[in-house]
Amino acid sequence: MSKATAHCRTRQQENAGNEQPKVECPLSSKRRTRYRQNAVDEQPKLLESPSSVRRTRQRDGAVDKQSQLLESPSSSARCTRQRQGDAGERQTVISLKRNKVASETANGFPEEAGTVACEGHSPSRKKIKAPAPTGVNKLEEEGKNLDMEKENEKKVEKDELCEDPAANSSNKKKGDSGKKVVKKEQESICRFIGDPVPVNEAKIRWPERYTKKVGGPKSISSSDYGNEDEAEPAKAKCHYYQAMVDGVAYNLNDDAHVKAGDGEPDYIGRIIEFFKTVEGKLYFRAQWFYKAEDTVISYHANDHDKRRVFLSEDRNDNDLECIVCKIRIVRIANNNGLPLKDEIPECDYYYDMSYSPFYSTFANLPKDDTSGVSSVSTTSSDEGFELEASPMNANLLDLYSGCGAMSTGLCHGAQLAGLNLYTTWAVDVNSFACQSLRLNHPKTKVRNEKAEDFLTLLREWKKLCEEFSLDVKHPPRPNKESDDFSDDGGDNDSTPVPKGEFEVDHFVDICFGDPNEIGKKELMFKVRWKGYGASEDTWEPISGLSKCSERIENFVRKGYQNKILPLPGVVDVICGGPPCQGISGFNRFRDYNNPLADIRNQQMAVFMEIVDFLKPKYVLMENVVDILKFAEGFLGRFAFSKLVKMNYQSRLGIMAAGCYGLPQFRMRVFLWGAQPSEVLPQFPLPTHDVLVRGGAPVKFEQNIVAYNEGRRPQLEKALFLGDAISDLPKVENNEARDEMPYGSSPKTDFQFSIRLTEPDLVDPSSNPKKAVLHNNLFDHRPLQLNEDDYMRVCRVPKKKGANFRDFPGVIVGPNNVVEFDPQIERVLLPSGSPLVPDYAMSYIKGKSPKPFGRLWWDETVPTVVTRAEPHNQIILHPEQDRVLTIRENARLQGFPDYYKLCGPIKERYIQVGNAVAVPVSRALGFALGRAFQGKGGDDPTFTLPANFPHFGVGAGEAIN
Ligand SMILES: C[S@@+](CC[C@H](N)C(=O)[O-])C[C@H]1O[C@@H](n2cnc3c(N)ncnc32)[C@H](O)[C@@H]1O
Repeated sequence: MSKATAHCRTRQQENAGNEQPKVECPLSSKRRTRYRQNAVDEQPKLLESPSSVRRTRQRDGAVDKQSQLLESPSSSARCTRQRQGDAGERQTVISLKRNKVASETANGFPEEAGTVACEGHSPSRKKIKAPAPTGVNKLEEEGKNLDMEKENEKKVEKDELCEDPAANSSNKKKGDSGKKVVKKEQESICRFIGDPVPVNEAKIRWPERYTKKVGGPKSISSSDYGNEDEAEPAKAKCHYYQAMVDGVAYNLNDDAHVKAGDGEPDYIGRIIEFFKTVEGKLYFRAQWFYKAEDTVISYHANDHDKRRVFLSEDRNDNDLECIVCKIRIVRIANNNGLPLKDEIPECDYYYDMSYSPFYSTFANLPKDDTSGVSSVSTTSSDEGFELEASPMNANLLDLYSGCGAMSTGLCHGAQLAGLNLYTTWAVDVNSFACQSLRLNHPKTKVRNEKAEDFLTLLREWKKLCEEFSLDVKHPPRPNKESDDFSDDGGDNDSTPVPKGEFEVDHFVDICFGDPNEIGKKELMFKVRWKGYGASEDTWEPISGLSKCSERIENFVRKGYQNKILPLPGVVDVICGGPPCQGISGFNRFRDYNNPLADIRNQQMAVFMEIVDFLKPKYVLMENVVDILKFAEGFLGRFAFSKLVKMNYQSRLGIMAAGCYGLPQFRMRVFLWGAQPSEVLPQFPLPTHDVLVRGGAPVKFEQNIVAYNEGRRPQLEKALFLGDAISDLPKVENNEARDEMPYGSSPKTDFQFSIRLTEPDLVDPSSNPKKAVLHNNLFDHRPLQLNEDDYMRVCRVPKKKGANFRDFPGVIVGPNNVVEFDPQIERVLLPSGSPLVPDYAMSYIKGKSPKPFGRLWWDETVPTVVTRAEPHNQIILHPEQDRVLTIRENARLQGFPDYYKLCGPIKERYIQVGNAVAVPVSRALGFALGRAFQGKGGDDPTFTLPANFPHFGVGAGEAIN
């Protein structure tokens, strides 16, 4: 695969949302998919090869497996839509009576010319062999087409009866008697009633049904029938407004249960066409509803009201006799919270959202969802991006904030889109990460506590506000920047306190937890004692402060005014990456059966509970791709389930950091949520031409944020290590300075940009080459290696690909397994330790080249991690005898150079390794900023402006 196409989506994926008319030959009539029963077995293997993102071939392979159809001998006709507990995995084909013996494929599944071969994650990926009209050759077909108009006008048949294709083909051979019997049976089952749709109207409403040939002039409905290169809609002789099935009259736009496979629940569809084909078959076209279990929510469907369904753009032609019964589905308004059950009118089902397998999108319904004609495109067209004259303001709560990389990028990106987004609150359990966040965001209210305790505190805070009659329904909103909360709240009583006595002067903080570590969590107040300073503050439980109600009230009133804690409805955006350590591929103690029972995964639930309590307008959750892999994506599906249950629109994308201008691959999952009143943000498409290597499970491959194949724009060149760090001064293994001069100018565009000060970074018109750059270099010091490791590192040659295998006495055997050279005595270091440690020899059974590996200038780093030891990762500087410094790692993560980190060296590495790559969150922030201002539209992705984030730079002065 060429790099140039690595970021591209295949054509199949592009069309996945536009299903095609599936005309299946009679033989496939009684098939049903097997996937439902064997979901686990059939789960395709994860793809790890570098080329997996090219998707076409592997996807096809995977789909072949998923979509195998089983012959079901018992029933005569049924709609054979593929059911899978995942995105877009419905499959509907016209199914008719079986009249031949199907041949068996190598898989043991029947195959027949003219049958539909399912080829995709969603129905649209089916490859169709054009319908083989039974007993009708091409000339006859054309003749029928020509006759169509005449026939229609004559209204030869007022009531059209179902015709059995078996009667048309095999029965024909048997003679008329067989045909009569079948016809009689059918008569009682289904027929069209009333006058046909006048031909002129029919041709306008369903033009593709009446054109003779594929490839004619494109009409609005062409995409409605799928990929016009591969299939064409069944041709109609005439359309009808009404049909009679089993004695029940159906009209267009009626909803119905539609027959599925044996033992499977009926499908739920809306009838959008009744037509008789040129071969005389009676069909209806259905637009499908998804039940929660058929969407990405899958296993978590039990948490949802069984009556709630989701309208999709999936449409298929079906045999009229597949209609089972009429049902009542009502559209209800999506009112930021599910309606109370008694508010839902009498119905079988209700719907308030649409579902599309593209990026697993749950979204507001289109204004008119009954037209029967619509199309889904997967990317928005390039558009002009104007610089906003008067930006709007919005606040952000960063949960599991770490040192704040994610929110920093989001705020920058939003600002570039014209939205002043501020990190008003941040929460993290790690005190060093909190220090870093405070240092770089002095206005943010940083809370160093567990998210679960923060949630309890929020609930308690609301109660306290209510207790003091503060308006919790309309609390004050944070200002442009966060308000200060000064601790001068004393009662100004200067009476001295007798010695040995302590009197509460005022409260300076509140928390829920156990700050005194006595083994009991409680609501606590931090007390400033009269006559004492801040260093003497102590945490006291509310239970011991009964005599201080007035002071508590003062604190709460002031805190309410200053928004020290968010109340429901006040937060605009919540972002965060709840840790899910119980699913890591390295973790042997993973609970596959119930990942949420594992305490290490419960932060995902806590995150969603905080969202539920605060009800922000927008949510952005970040996580590792393992949440989509482990236990069939249990945790990823759980997150979706929660958001949808809370009535958030939502969509999920998998983004590779390198695609946004970093020499680091790093794939992460991002899940958007947006209140129904808001525009659901899109995913920003790659700006850099990066080879995307595997990493996403097949079931979620269509969530990888990538261009569609065939729509390959000119992207910027992928970046390498040298682009990011070649301007940094030389430092030694024992470098001890936290701050130093740069000593040289930036050499690359990346280096110019990364050295910008914050105001220039959020100004799209700022040309880095002309801007004033940040002048002091922070955190450019490495984890100091011990003497032995340092000596080892000094012996790793300064060349591409060098590592411990270059040490004397190590040879590489035929299977790429290292072994000691028996001819050479083991070399010892001055300490007596071996030069080649045993762990290096045995790492990954001796096959890994990572121990003491040197990076090279023209390389991309797979993923910056939280550790800096060189024992099992390639982290040595290309030309210096040390590991990459904190700053070098920070550059690979896209932290601006002005961002200074706090804490011991190892802690700083952790903060950097944990971070969301800043350019990725910046691009997402741009999407958020647009959505917040009502821009974006229905497409799941969009193209960032050229030269982002410096898109305001005039064409003549473009930085490159
Ligand atoms: C992946 S990091 C988040 C990185 C951050 N989003 C950024 O971009 O810099 C996860 C963070 O969750 C924090 N954390 C872990 N458990 C927590 C808990 N129970 N409550 C709050 N924070 C927690 C860790 O300290 C860590 O900083």
